[in-house]
Amino acid sequence: MDTENQDMTLTDRQGHPITDNQNIRTVGNSGPSTLENYHYIEKISHFDRERIPERVVHARGAGAHGYFEAYGKVGTEAVSTYTRAKLFQEPGKRTPVFVRFSTVVHGGHSPETLRDPRGFATKFYTEDGNWDLVGNNLKIFFIRDPLKFPDMVHAFKPDPVTNLQNPERMFDFVSNTPEATHMITFLFSPWGIPANYRQMQGSGVNTYKWVNQEGNAVLVKYHWEPIKHAIKNLTQQEAEAIQAKNTSHATQDLYEAIERGDYPEWELCVQILSDDEHAELDFDPLDPTKLWDHEQFPFLPVGKMVLNRNPENYFAEVEQAAFGTGVLVDGLDFSDDKLLQGRTFSYSDTQRHRVGTNYLQLPINAPKKRVATNQRDGQMAFIVDRAPEQNPHVNYEPSSLGGLKEAAPSGQEHQPAYKAKLVREQISRTNDFKQAGDTYRKFADHERDELIHNLVDALNICAPVIQAKMIEHFTNADAEYGRRVSEGLAQAKSQMAPNSSAAAAEGEALAEQSGQRTD
Ligand code: HEM
Repeated sequence: MDTENQDMTLTDRQGHPITDNQNIRTVGNSGPSTLENYHYIEKISHFDRERIPERVVHARGAGAHGYFEAYGKVGTEAVSTYTRAKLFQEPGKRTPVFVRFSTVVHGGHSPETLRDPRGFATKFYTEDGNWDLVGNNLKIFFIRDPLKFPDMVHAFKPDPVTNLQNPERMFDFVSNTPEATHMITFLFSPWGIPANYRQMQGSGVNTYKWVNQEGNAVLVKYHWEPIKHAIKNLTQQEAEAIQAKNTSHATQDLYEAIERGDYPEWELCVQILSDDEHAELDFDPLDPTKLWDHEQFPFLPVGKMVLNRNPENYFAEVEQAAFGTGVLVDGLDFSDDKLLQGRTFSYSDTQRHRVGTNYLQLPINAPKKRVATNQRDGQMAFIVDRAPEQNPHVNYEPSSLGGLKEAAPSGQEHQPAYKAKLVREQISRTNDFKQAGDTYRKFADHERDELIHNLVDALNICAPVIQAKMIEHFTNADAEYGRRVSEGLAQAKSQMAPNSSAAAAEGEALAEQSGQRTD
């Protein structure tokens, strides 16, 4: 870089040139320092505040910029049949994006080799404002009711006394949460440790809606499929070997690939279902613990995404990025998926705490189109969100004195009708085990072997009551699945205490118990 003709003078935040950045002011050469050391006090007190709270989940992440390019079709049909969202309409239309990948449970510098879902959050800076698709790599989730989320996260995070993550706490929660059986089946297989961020899928998990010009809606699920490099997962042993040498391998892989011009790409596909209850299905299509079978509901491509630019500053762009499921654009809508609705409150709530009231004014979070609101002030407000033509005295609406006006609707509003009692109830088609069994049977042999091995390893230290409940869930999913976990635990027990006949007898009893359940 040519610095000859550039002013490289160090200043403080007040613009004062700094003539001495090495020595604080003291009384005499080694005497006490004085309180009016403005440059030092500003420098150190800013440093003291350099960290903001980590994300309560998904604290460890990496991000990149790029673009989304629309195909203008959904499969072979015109996309306008289903949605009027502008970013999808014209073939070749590009929308800038920012993506943050993450792990979920552990803190900001935890190893990226841990068994954990991976976050895959995309911010589309569209001409109609921002759209956030806040997804994971796996296509389903542990729970379907948002009321359970804080308990689930407490159980998965380190013990409040020892600060150690403990599989017994995790499986205590999971064994009492049968709907988690399907997700656990993915998580303890090699699908629970993607090799890196470039070679994994993404999924919106929850069900959303697409709305067309006439206000008619369909249900949609979103999926990101990597198109440049094959999907790759790790066995526990492979992950441990990487972790011994590098705890940031996925961040490094993403950053270096983009620096050398090997830009990762994903195709965005949707699955579409008509917007009704689908009594013909043996599961509720709004249940995020379920897959929509891709043979019955094909993946329809709508565009592709290319990540081609690394952040210039990790903190400003990746750490302060704020995604949320409420951030939709015209033509996209929520479904009645309870988990989605619970999530939608949580994101902006936590971001006002984590980043600050005006987090949406930060460049990474602000839309790339003009923003004109009557929201004012609050901590760290540094611009006034007003239209240039707006009367600056009028920060309210309605007004006849030059204030902001409502936009004209761009199509018919989607207006679902409801007639029901207000209740607290589970959904009626819970069907917690069938798809877990289907997934177990669809795995390749090596994936099933790895799943059993990892489950036995984790369950081995759990109380017998937890082991028994988990074996019951696995058996309900698939008789062989339950039997293999049960036998693995019995074997592990006898290996731990080879001379203990009591241990062997307990192990046999466990195996027998699950055998009986199979009948
Ligand atoms: C991050 C809440 C379920 C994907 C977060 C954060 C919260 C949260 C509070 C931290 C956000 C921040 O500090 O900026 C919830 C709640 C859920 C839920 C209450 C269920 C009721 C899910 C599900 C997915 C998911 C089902 C996947 C589809 C993510 C991702 C991030 C995240 C990817 C990280 C976003 C980023 O990179 O900044 N979630 N979450 N969450 N969540 Fe969820």
